[in-house]
Amino acid sequence: MSFPDNDFLRQLPKAELHMHLEGSLEPELLFQLAERNGVALPYASVEALREAYQFSNLQDFLDIYYQGAGVLQTEQDFYDLTWAYLERCAADGVVHVEPFFDPQTHTERGISIATQLTGISRALADGQAKLAISSRLILSFLRHLSEDDAIATLQEALPLREHFVAVGLDSSEQGNPPEGFVRVYEMARAEGLRAVAHAGEEGPAEYIWQALDLLQVERIDHGVRCVEDPVLVERLIAEQTPLTVCPLSNTKLKVFAKMQDHNILQLLEQGVKVTINSDDPAYFGGYLLANFIAVRDALDMTREQAVALARNSITASMLSDDEQAGWLAKLDGQ
Ligand code: ADE
Ligand code: ZN
Repeated sequence: MSFPDNDFLRQLPKAELHMHLEGSLEPELLFQLAERNGVALPYASVEALREAYQFSNLQDFLDIYYQGAGVLQTEQDFYDLTWAYLERCAADGVVHVEPFFDPQTHTERGISIATQLTGISRALADGQAKLAISSRLILSFLRHLSEDDAIATLQEALPLREHFVAVGLDSSEQGNPPEGFVRVYEMARAEGLRAVAHAGEEGPAEYIWQALDLLQVERIDHGVRCVEDPVLVERLIAEQTPLTVCPLSNTKLKVFAKMQDHNILQLLEQGVKVTINSDDPAYFGGYLLANFIAVRDALDMTREQAVALARNSITASMLSDDEQAGWLAKLDGQ
């Protein structure tokens, strides 16, 4: 067992499977876009905005996150947002990304899904061409809005479906269970889209069961509250259902009081297919590598565990078996 230093963690080929593009909007870019688009901000400076990033739960964060996303208006804004994230990925040794975008956050403000998707896709294509980072995009529904709204969103997006491969479910979890979104997930699957959902972040283990059984998702985003139900943990292990865990997010949003309390390595050792992700890196203190480093420092992650987490990120991804095999061969030598 040896210590995985920062360089070791950086050079491991890693995939990021849980990252909201709107959550990668750094205060500097947020201010630039506000100026470009003539949007007034309730903060005097970048520093004042950063100081506001103190959250006691998910809703606290979401309120500020949706407000921040209000500066995104043009196709170029969505390009710039996505491109800035990909540059961070390149610096962190991320080789593949499966980001979310929240179309309803923008359609509510009169910005079409076509505007959003063309900007995001153009940056993702440049990410492949210039940074060799592959990607698959996930369209995520806001669970605090109605299922009918989600259905209308899916219908607006379907003519552009070559731009995304899956649907997701995010926003305020408590009181908005997966069972409210069965029809829209059925429609998405009937269109050949893949499915994931946030569950078991603040919500109970029951929501994870619902996401698996009712929405038939292939991955659970977060899922850390699965430990409250040993039968569920057994199932996750037996089926090797990936959990896209977000350590810095979980401590910033007080899902765990401190990183030392986080259960990610305990789940890994039990045989759950956990992965490390950054969720909303501009708000939670770091991108993918920072999350690996935080787990290493608080939980004494070994090199073997770091490699296992990187392997899980590849095998839990939507890459083809052949594409996965290339990255797994690189990880074999570690
Ligand atoms: N949207 C952005 N980040 C989220 C999170 N951590 N949980 C739910 N919805 C989100
Ligand atoms: Zn999330």
